[in-house]
Amino acid sequence: MSVLDVRGLCKEYVRGGVPFRAVDSANLRVEPGEMVGIVGRSGSGKTTFFNMVAGLLTPSAGSVSVAGTDILALSDAERSELRNRRIGYVPQGQSLLANLTVLDNVRLPHYFAARDDNVAGRVFYLLGELGIAHLAETCPPQLSGGEMRRAAIARAMMNRPELLLADEPTGDLDAGNARAAMDAFAALAASGVAVVFSAHGDDAARRADRVVEMERGAMRERTFSEA
Ligand SMILES: Nc1ncnc2c1ncn2[C@@H]1O[C@H](COP(=O)(O)OP(=O)(O)OP(=O)(O)O)[C@@H](O)[C@H]1O
Ligand SMILES: [Mg+2]
Repeated sequence: MSVLDVRGLCKEYVRGGVPFRAVDSANLRVEPGEMVGIVGRSGSGKTTFFNMVAGLLTPSAGSVSVAGTDILALSDAERSELRNRRIGYVPQGQSLLANLTVLDNVRLPHYFAARDDNVAGRVFYLLGELGIAHLAETCPPQLSGGEMRRAAIARAMMNRPELLLADEPTGDLDAGNARAAMDAFAALAASGVAVVFSAHGDDAARRADRVVEMERGAMRERTFSEA
């Protein structure tokens, strides 16, 4: 079974009185262990797509199924629980809670899931992987953009999601840290997680098993000969 199965997904907005589709009939299937890169220019619809797949934005049409569950058929509470337990999402913008330390931000999903496994061990393992263990007690206003991004990546991995969504996760990272973040995603994929990330350029996309081009809301799989 596909971890993610998106069919005919559309989001229509009205701008200046004119309707347009920010996401236009997008289809995407991702299997366990696959790493898929979505490449597209600014404004092509990547963030709109991710927000719908994460269940944060209601589509105008189409369906999103995560691990066999149609997320649009769920209540708000059920959708939140599915997101917490099965999906890790690294949003494009700053998304950490400003008055919590990095440690508390990263363990928040675990707190909401009310799990009783070894939380401290996992948090420090993830912070170490991403090179920010020394910032565990620091709050986001004292962090750089790249440090915040890495904390958000650790937070998304905290509950061992089946589907990891990352919207331009390397956009504000230097080459070394971008590589560390992509290494962490590749390790997740190797352990069976379905990883979907977006990028503007081809650098990060080279790490993907498959690349999907997004242009004016439409998605198209890049064929091997174009890679
Ligand atoms: N709430 C909204 N109302 C109207 N138009 C919107 C809204 N949100 C996004 N758009 C438009 O939808 C299009 C897609 O936006 P989106 O943020 O998904 O692009 P993106 O590919 O993520 O771009 P970037 O690479 O700059 O992050 C853009 O033209 C944007 O202006
Ligand atoms: Mg975006």
